[in-house]
Amino acid sequence: MNQPYLEMDSISKQFSGIYVLKNVSLKAFEGEALALLGANGAGKSTLMNILGGVLHPDEGRVLIKQKVTEIRSTIDAEKIGIGFIHQELALCPSMSVAENIFISRFPIKNGVIKKKFIEQKSNEVLKRLGCSIDVKKKIRDLSAGDKQLVEIARVLISNAHILIFDEPTSSLAINEKERFFKIISSLKRENKVIIYITHFLDEIFSICDKVQVLRNGETAGIVNVHDLNHHDIVTLMVGEIETDTAQKAAPVQNREKVLRVSDLKRLDVLNSMSFDLYKGEVLGLWGLMGSGRTELIRAIRGLDELDSGQIEIKIDKELRPVAPDKTKKWIGLITENRREDGLFLPLSVRENISVASLPSLLTGNKFFVNTKKEEKLSKELVRMLDIKVTGIQQSAGTLSGGNQQKMILARWLGKKPPIFIMDEPTRGVDVGAKNEIHKIIKNLARKGFSILLISSEIEEIMELSDRYLVLRRGSIVKELPGNSSKNELMLWAAKGKNKEATG
Ligand SMILES: Nc1ncnc2c1ncn2[C@@H]1O[C@H](COP(=O)(O)OP(=O)(O)OP(=O)(O)O)[C@@H](O)[C@H]1O
Ligand SMILES: [Mg+2]
Repeated sequence: MNQPYLEMDSISKQFSGIYVLKNVSLKAFEGEALALLGANGAGKSTLMNILGGVLHPDEGRVLIKQKVTEIRSTIDAEKIGIGFIHQELALCPSMSVAENIFISRFPIKNGVIKKKFIEQKSNEVLKRLGCSIDVKKKIRDLSAGDKQLVEIARVLISNAHILIFDEPTSSLAINEKERFFKIISSLKRENKVIIYITHFLDEIFSICDKVQVLRNGETAGIVNVHDLNHHDIVTLMVGEIETDTAQKAAPVQNREKVLRVSDLKRLDVLNSMSFDLYKGEVLGLWGLMGSGRTELIRAIRGLDELDSGQIEIKIDKELRPVAPDKTKKWIGLITENRREDGLFLPLSVRENISVASLPSLLTGNKFFVNTKKEEKLSKELVRMLDIKVTGIQQSAGTLSGGNQQKMILARWLGKKPPIFIMDEPTRGVDVGAKNEIHKIIKNLARKGFSILLISSEIEEIMELSDRYLVLRRGSIVKELPGNSSKNELMLWAAKGKNKEATG
């Protein structure tokens, strides 16, 4: 049998006296993709951060081609040929594609960056990946999928032989995912060693060869993909999970409007969008990447300027106009982009959860926060959502990706606004937690809260929505009932397929 190219041998790591990894060993082979799976907080990113030189193990060693290899820093890792495509992309938005690809290795001549050279080389590597992005474009003008390609190109240009992907597809559109899988296959043909972290279990069957599952910082199993099915993997990850079989609520008669959006316009982004949201419903906003879903909810919450339009919210039994920058009092926003507009990373879990509920947590004189109440609330929500923390004082930035996502949900559940906007509420959370979050969303609706939901996963939006609005190129093109078929949804979202709608 051939030898592993990479071996991690009995790695242990503690944070504040708690084991995050315990005696974990891993083997990876050339020309193969190894899926690294596990529930939120299982230790996947930590293990890979050790390989990437970001963290140092307390115990254990790394072997490359059977030789013990010290990885003291990210620079060491790069020299050894370890390339990391991170969970949260780390590109520089104001710089060009070529500049980002060469960011850590600018070739300089007489104090000037050799622009032509980096552009040419960037073109070459992108071509090797089978895609053509204008290398002069600024990163901020790229789609999520193209940004990720730039990350991959950046790693390839450094001659990485081991490629680590940490949840690479969580922000990709369907067609971008397909392109990405092709790239993985071609990297395998180039004999690269691939380690692939994902919560989308279906993906691993098409691209991975072996699976290693971590559970609470220990290896729960290492298996060939062909010897497993979806259910086996879930069981290895989290034990048996129960599914919620409750049917969707029947459409209610005499429904009560809680939100009316009229004629929202913003040049090139929103073309006169209007709709109503009713009490106790989950309204799914469905559309492809770039259809305007995120832009619409950002506009409702006053995060972007509008050219015109009106938002009315039911306050004291009547719909009343509310300025977009004031809607946050009634509308809780759970975003997909936890890094940019959600969390306060240096602050504690307790503070991050209670921040939305502060007015109700003040002491009698309204000057101080009632810390007892604050603590109680955060602890309750941490328990309810099963957020993996060492304590509510742990700083938000040190939580695993999925647990950060749950914390944003906890924040708004604590405040209980009448309306929730949820933009990819389960992005990055594991199957068990996803199930929990789905139950919570259904329960919120049953209790009379109204939810505007965005999800790029068609199964998720179909499972939860009582009604759909299909968006395309900044317009609402169709309203569909909750029992519509997958085909209908796909058809309406893609109809008149064009560049903007898919890019
Ligand atoms: N600097 C730190 N201080 C304290 N705890 C930490 C630190 N970094 C990570 N942890 C803890 O280590 C555990 C493992 O985290 P890790 O990020 O490896 O999980 P993960 O498997 O990648 O999860 P996810 O799927 O949610 O991304 C988590 O419980 C996290 O809170
Ligand atoms: Mg992680």
